[in-house]
Amino acid sequence: MDKFVIEGPTKLSGTTFTSGSKNASLPMMAAAILADGAVVLNNVPRLRDIDTMCKLLNGLGCICEWRGENRLKVDCSSISSDFAPYDLVRKMRASILVLGPLTARLGSAHVSLPGGCAIGVRPVNLHIAAIKAMGGDVQIENGYIKAKAKKLRGATIYFDIPTVTGTENVLMAAALSEGKTVIKNAAKEPEVVDLARMLKKMGARIEGEGESTIEIEGVDRLCGVEFTVMSDRIEAGTFMCAAMITGSEITIKNPPLDAMDAIIDKFLEIGGELERVDDGILVRGCERIKPTMIKTAVYPGFPTDMQAQFMAVLSLADGTSIIEETIFENRFMHVAELNRLGANIVVSGNRAVVEGVDGLVGASVMATDLRASASLVVAALAAKGKTEILRIYHLDRGYESLEEKLKRLGAKIWREKQ
Ligand code: EPZ
Repeated sequence: MDKFVIEGPTKLSGTTFTSGSKNASLPMMAAAILADGAVVLNNVPRLRDIDTMCKLLNGLGCICEWRGENRLKVDCSSISSDFAPYDLVRKMRASILVLGPLTARLGSAHVSLPGGCAIGVRPVNLHIAAIKAMGGDVQIENGYIKAKAKKLRGATIYFDIPTVTGTENVLMAAALSEGKTVIKNAAKEPEVVDLARMLKKMGARIEGEGESTIEIEGVDRLCGVEFTVMSDRIEAGTFMCAAMITGSEITIKNPPLDAMDAIIDKFLEIGGELERVDDGILVRGCERIKPTMIKTAVYPGFPTDMQAQFMAVLSLADGTSIIEETIFENRFMHVAELNRLGANIVVSGNRAVVEGVDGLVGASVMATDLRASASLVVAALAAKGKTEILRIYHLDRGYESLEEKLKRLGAKIWREKQ
């Protein structure tokens, strides 16, 4: 297993860029199952999760081929299996995204239940209920979801929680079903909207994406398309946190600005400065970080995927901050590790009280999940001395060439075999 070694504190400078969005790419790859021709996706990040999704699709009889550094061709015209095995699904929960497309395209799906992960139980009951509402016969046997449907039919689906991948699963299933589907209390995340844009280019009839109610009129066939994935708002936000915690000025090329209001608002509130420059933003950290209150929420609220990174920044604020995590029940795994670096954070239920300290000191810390790992990298850039971050395979799941990008900004970071 690899580890990162980071020497701090370092000032950052120069320009970096935002890669394609992991959470937009994954559903789009699953959507290729619906097409009767090949799909070509541009701006797909080279990540472990993307590789896992390629393995899963290849196992279904699809063909995934890289046609350039970030250009991925997915051809499911000769799909021959509906089986998504536990061994792959346990590595990446987003594998659940093949449930809707398989049931709609093949009339059957045999998908392992994802199981939980570090940040929570992560049930998929809403996904299953939706497929049932659309006429799917769904059984749970030996840890697998077995869905069958001669032809899915449109239905009104109400989500009591606006689930992101649940909304994406229904969008894809409904696109190839018979009749009209209405999703109520749908997720409004930009990645959901990007998927809807791709499905419409494939011939799907969708209205209301990005709103609470989405209407889909099923069609008989969807064709292969070429589509460019949006850039990653969480990666861009992570670089903003790196600039903030090190009091640096950097330029970030092609961030999806329209999808980043909550992140930018919070960045400015704690003392950050931001200027738009051609095809990017110039961001500037400040010497004295202001404390704040953060409450994670569904889009367009403050994203849970940015909570850990901002917590690292606020550990050096001039006062006490409160962070409330409302989306996942266990998304504070980074707290113990940040405290090992000298932070002073106390957790009570779903709230963390972050007492700003004067400085952090390097230590060995453990990555536990994707965004927790990112928060440790952010903290290590400001910590005095050497920090070792173990188990960085978590980071490789969701950040493309992170150490190269940070090195180019002046960070003293290198990867070592553990
Ligand atoms: C997506 O996960 C993202 N993953 C997550 O990003 C992100 O944190 C999350 O949305 C919230 O924004 C991808 O898009 C691949 P949810 P998802 O279903 O869809 C509960 C990252 O770091 N729920 O919106 O799994 C669930 O337990 C990852 O890139 C049910 O109860 O999240 C959670 O409390 C981490 N039943 C809440 O809803 C269900 O059937 C929101 O989950 C589904 C969800």
